[in-house]
Amino acid sequence: MSTVRAAGERAAGEAARRRTFAVISHPDAGKSTLTEALALHARAIGEAGAVHGKAGRRGVTSDWMEMERTRGISVTSAVLQFAHRDHVLNLLDTPGHADFSEDTYRVLAAVDCAVMLIDAAKGLEEQTRKLFDVCRHRGIPVITFVNKWDRPGREALELLDEIEREFRLKPTPVTWPVGIAGHLRGLVDVRDDAHMLRYVKAPGGAREAKEELVPADRAAAEEGGDFAQAAEEIELLAADGAVFDRESFLAGKSTPVFFGAALGNVGVRLLLDAVVDMAPAPPARELTGGGVRPVGAAFSGLVFKVQANMDRSHRDRIAFVRVCSGIFERGMTVTHAASGRPFATKYAHSVFGQDRSSVDVAYPGDVVGLVNAAALRVGDTLYDGPKAEFPPMPTFAPEHFAVARPVDIGRSKQFRRGITQLGEEGVVQVLVSDRRGEQAPVLAAVGPMQFDVVTHRMAHEFSAPVTLEPLPYHLARATDAAGAEALNRSRLVRGEALTRLRDGALLALFPDRWQANSFRREFPEGRLDHLIAAH
Ligand code: G4P
Repeated sequence: MSTVRAAGERAAGEAARRRTFAVISHPDAGKSTLTEALALHARAIGEAGAVHGKAGRRGVTSDWMEMERTRGISVTSAVLQFAHRDHVLNLLDTPGHADFSEDTYRVLAAVDCAVMLIDAAKGLEEQTRKLFDVCRHRGIPVITFVNKWDRPGREALELLDEIEREFRLKPTPVTWPVGIAGHLRGLVDVRDDAHMLRYVKAPGGAREAKEELVPADRAAAEEGGDFAQAAEEIELLAADGAVFDRESFLAGKSTPVFFGAALGNVGVRLLLDAVVDMAPAPPARELTGGGVRPVGAAFSGLVFKVQANMDRSHRDRIAFVRVCSGIFERGMTVTHAASGRPFATKYAHSVFGQDRSSVDVAYPGDVVGLVNAAALRVGDTLYDGPKAEFPPMPTFAPEHFAVARPVDIGRSKQFRRGITQLGEEGVVQVLVSDRRGEQAPVLAAVGPMQFDVVTHRMAHEFSAPVTLEPLPYHLARATDAAGAEALNRSRLVRGEALTRLRDGALLALFPDRWQANSFRREFPEGRLDHLIAAH
């Protein structure tokens, strides 16, 4: 067999046993806790203790990390790799809290599946909705985990209704709780309703609950009403057609639902099994201009995040690359599709929490960090062998806007260069209007953290300190020339229209949804379309 064919088969085989996913949730729903619980069940590959929980955020030295430490937020997107049942799972972190930014959305360009984590008491929350929107747009299938069932919360059926009503996504429970939220007795795996999985608090205050498989007749006798109610509800759901169906799950029309408590490790193993059994393996990826790159083809990878200046003494730049096809081997020279230039991968790292260790080989679905990647931008493709170029990364609906101005007008050249570069890198979106001119561009961001990064890098990297003046807008819609013109002359509605530099698209900015709606009523002739993840 030729070595190329053998490598292709190896890549395809490794791809088949990989699952690359992210957890989408609102802050405090329990993402860190779930991540730790997943890693506990699985065998973490790499350094233990670097699970990106809150405890892992210490002892860092560079200026980035200083910012991270003082603000208590995570700037670095981490990847956790672990093994489960002969499979390799890559869990990509989606930064939340105050560091919610375009990077959070971009992570979803690098995963094949998402676990939507819902707090049993709160149901669907704002950041979950936004992230779900992106999943839907990108066709990423979603597995749902209802967390904190050990605490008082809402009714299970009510939570399912909310998912169906708000997301037009059919919930198909795979596990069902015995006992209402706050009175968790166990779970029934609806595929095996002859048993109940009972969870018993471990003695001595250990966090992990003990799992016991109890036959249904014994469960009925011992759990009484709770088990009978669960059995009745499971029957009702089945009669209603709420049964897991892989095809509609992969098509983004239904979501398998799991219940549990990440803190007590309840239901986590079943979720982990679901990721292996239900989530898709890395697929062939669509190329710009049609066609796909099969996973067994030569190496190709997508840059989904670029982190600059993490270390002041090195001023390095790390590009996070998701391997899409073939085998990545450290040291190989690949081609940067955007420039056609060769790119040496001498400094490849696995990006595990904040620790970096060299990675020698990676397969489709894995993530590698390339250091000294000054030439790489978010959305870029790297490849070996036949040319591959993946479609550009979409830009996401910004919600924060600020006018940037140089502190020292004598440095306007450096100012323009810096702003242009940060825009190209995707650190922020850069908008201009005829009225404000190029010396006062409007920076647009998904999260305010992105502005801090701009201020920091403009001062330290481009020697052009800036002032940012916040604008009172929080909503952007795509518009056209008619809409822009109407908005700029309208006095009844507050807002303005600006051009997005990178793609030339026109954006209409409003303080809120009500202003946008009244503008639409006033000037129905202008286009006013939703952007991804705008509400
Ligand atoms: P996040 O990463 O999504 O922001 O959430 P995180 O895991 O930090 O969890 C938020 C809070 O919810 C934590 O409590 C955590 O212990 C708790 N939690 C997570 N999962 C469960 C669960 O299944 N059951 C219960 N009862 N609580 C859960 P905290 O008091 O804010 O922090 P900590 O001091 O306990 O760490």
